[in-house]
Amino acid sequence: MESFVAQWVNDSDRTPQVREKVYLVGGGPGDPDLLTVKALKLLQKAEVVLYDALISPEILNLVNPKALLVSVGKRANNHSKKQHEINQLLVKYGKQKRGVVRLKGGDPFIYGRGGEELQALIAAGIDFEVVPGITAASGCASYAGIPLTHREHSQTVMFVTAQCKNSQENIDWTSIARQNQTVVVYMGLLKNDVLAQQLIAYGRCPNTPVAIIENGTTRAQRVITGTLGCLTEMVEEQQVISPALMIIGEVVALAHQLDWYPNNQLIQHMSKMKPVYKLREAV
Ligand SMILES: C[S@@+](CC[C@H](N)C(=O)[O-])C[C@H]1O[C@@H](n2cnc3c(N)ncnc32)[C@H](O)[C@@H]1O
Repeated sequence: MESFVAQWVNDSDRTPQVREKVYLVGGGPGDPDLLTVKALKLLQKAEVVLYDALISPEILNLVNPKALLVSVGKRANNHSKKQHEINQLLVKYGKQKRGVVRLKGGDPFIYGRGGEELQALIAAGIDFEVVPGITAASGCASYAGIPLTHREHSQTVMFVTAQCKNSQENIDWTSIARQNQTVVVYMGLLKNDVLAQQLIAYGRCPNTPVAIIENGTTRAQRVITGTLGCLTEMVEEQQVISPALMIIGEVVALAHQLDWYPNNQLIQHMSKMKPVYKLREAV
């Protein structure tokens, strides 16, 4: 079977019908050049695009000018629509068979609630397809010059979020604080103090390098480097705003050597305070 992209390139009149399905599409972390070819083709054909707050204006400019653009503006602690309302909208437009693209930041299956939206479509008997996107961890790390793994520093990468549906009590801090591991924290800005305290309490050294990447892969990208023990001070003093991603681990030390992105504002945070931390109490 000819691939989706090959069909598109070979004969634009015989392009696949986008009308019969809802396409759950990852829009990447911000830079429109990081869209996949398939995502771009679908956006150019779509008749309805439901998009999140993190989708950049540059990406929206690539959408079929005749398409209906529906903002569902989801942001942490500031949901303009509740998840069940978004699901209802998807089902509503999906039933109209109007070439619907559900455009989400990064990858739809990484902290994107893509699974929940597909379950709603299944319950309504609507067909779908998933188009992965470059997730913030990958995009931001690349544009910050931080390799998530490196044979000399880190063999494991862990993605974690500070936003949990239920209680945070079940978080496995022992695994997150493991040595020689890179930890990438999504939606962690508001919980940075708990994060730093717990990682240190569970054994991660307060001097572990940390980077906060704000507006990664965009022209406004800032990368602030420092140490785990000073994470809260970094967020406050540098007045970090959302969206921001944190990377914790020895690989962060390479950011100054591998800095390549021309728009990158790389800031080495100089701590004014002694890091405050305590060791985990013996159990
Ligand atoms: C709801 S999650 C969505 C993640 C998305 N599905 C992905 O795969 O990247 C939103 C969080 O991703 C991170 N994020 C997304 N885009 C970012 C960017 N351009 N720069 C920094 N962090 C970003 C931030 O931690 C933000 O709070």
